[in-house]
Amino acid sequence: MRPFLIAPSILSADFARLGDDVKAVLDAGADVVHFDVMDNHYVPNLTIGPMVCKALRDYGITADIDVHLMVKPVDRIVPDFAKAGASIITFHPEASEHVDRTLQLIRDHGCKAGLVFNPATPLHYLDYVMDKLDVILLMSVNPGFGGQSFIPATLDKLKQVRARIDASGFDIRLEVDGGVKEDNIAEIAAAGADMFVAGSAIFGKPDYKAVVDRMRAELAK
Ligand code: DX5
Ligand code: ZN
Repeated sequence: MRPFLIAPSILSADFARLGDDVKAVLDAGADVVHFDVMDNHYVPNLTIGPMVCKALRDYGITADIDVHLMVKPVDRIVPDFAKAGASIITFHPEASEHVDRTLQLIRDHGCKAGLVFNPATPLHYLDYVMDKLDVILLMSVNPGFGGQSFIPATLDKLKQVRARIDASGFDIRLEVDGGVKEDNIAEIAAAGADMFVAGSAIFGKPDYKAVVDRMRAELAK
């Protein structure tokens, strides 16, 4: 498996000083910026869009930005995020009328593409698109809010997806999002994840480096 990636969710960052907070968490050793886009339609919350992504790039953030679209419709916002500097764009398949087309659209705009599965979303959406995926993201909470508890059934789902990725032979990241903490990250990795989103577990603590270091120590066990 490839090296583990830690992706802090900026949903829990300080929006009043976002550039500094994102820089601080990257300086603390995080790998990827997880950027949660909520539209108050597909999910019951409203966050940030392409302008904020571009602002982070203009501020000098060079790490990969992993844009998690919790929006419906999906397609019309994809080019805007690509222009704004997104590296990865993931979306929920039930929010797109044409999943294959949306995946291709993301790649055509030079970004890595991924599907996101809610806790109750079945995995059949994977059946015909494995060759178009760079990332599979399993939600381990229902989307919309940070600070929720990890849903244990995700562990079995992770194992199923890990087996499908390995059998496919494609180079696909297995990302997990929601309720990831220092005390469960090792178990989540053992189930097959290799990219870990954590919002409140990192931004909720004063010393980001201490949390990231402890997460890496758990992953090395
Ligand atoms: C939830 C978001 C998550 C969220 C995770 O809809 O997709 O990225 O910020 O937050 P924590 O790590 O606090 O559960
Ligand atoms: Zn997310």
